[in-house]
Amino acid sequence: MLKKCLFPVAGYGTRFLPATKAMPKEMLPLVNKPLVQYGVEEAIEAGLTEIGFVTGRGKRAIEDHFDTNFELEQQIAGTGKERYLDCVRQVIDSASFSYTRQGEMRGLGDAILQGQRLIGDEAFAVVLADDLCLNEEVGVLGQMVQLYKQFRCSIVAVEEVPKEQIHKFGVIAGNEIKPDLFQVTDMVEKPSAEDAPSNMAIIGRYILTPDIFDLIRETPPGKNGEVQITDALLTQAKRGCVLAYRFKGRRFDCGSVDGFIEATNHVYKNIYLPGEKG
Ligand code: UTP
Repeated sequence: MLKKCLFPVAGYGTRFLPATKAMPKEMLPLVNKPLVQYGVEEAIEAGLTEIGFVTGRGKRAIEDHFDTNFELEQQIAGTGKERYLDCVRQVIDSASFSYTRQGEMRGLGDAILQGQRLIGDEAFAVVLADDLCLNEEVGVLGQMVQLYKQFRCSIVAVEEVPKEQIHKFGVIAGNEIKPDLFQVTDMVEKPSAEDAPSNMAIIGRYILTPDIFDLIRETPPGKNGEVQITDALLTQAKRGCVLAYRFKGRRFDCGSVDGFIEATNHVYKNIYLPGEKG
């Protein structure tokens, strides 16, 4: 069954400059944990323990984060400070981590295609770590894995967004086949409010069947000259089936400063363990 999860992390994170000049945006801390760790924890919770990163220049801190730091660990061994490392040690022990590079920033579709080296010929999940997804019960990827077991086709997570924000997203049209689950009939990348086929926007969680790789290869650059995953998914939807799932839970857009601050406040108030507060 599903066991691999791909994290495309090659983006520049220009909206957080200068903070992201020498540091990946995925390493920005939400309180005490880097953003990317929340995504990896969500994948592990969903049973996806083979984690692959599609990286770019300046992303080495991500590799170092999911590796042992012998010097530091030796330094704090036997002291009260060891517990601060517990949650990342748990992650490192629960999963394997592999890396490949996207040589040129040619869009999310291309980043996913570069990930084929890590995925091979099986269905896999994709997480965009700048979308932080939280749910009190099963996480969003966990919910999608359950659906995949039933339907065995590509699934995108969607959320209803206000009209004035729709131009920032890929947007779907579809037929509701059961509550919160739609068979996709159309998909448009970053439409104007007038051209949007619905108010249901695709967020950074996908499950993809491996035929997507050939479809991406066939996809010419689209909006902004980038190879768009939505274009390849639309072809897949027309030839077979792609589902859109209105997930349970809350998403924070941590790729924007406002969303990042909102998420930080939420995590500090609701998730960060009081024992860790110093
Ligand atoms: P974004 O559109 O948020 O771009 O990419 P970005 O560079 O990360 O951030 P800004 O807009 O400059 O502030 C969405 C996701 O797709 C990945 C990014 O790393 C991010 O997780 N991505 C995008 C790639 O890995 N490669 C690409 O060519 C494009």
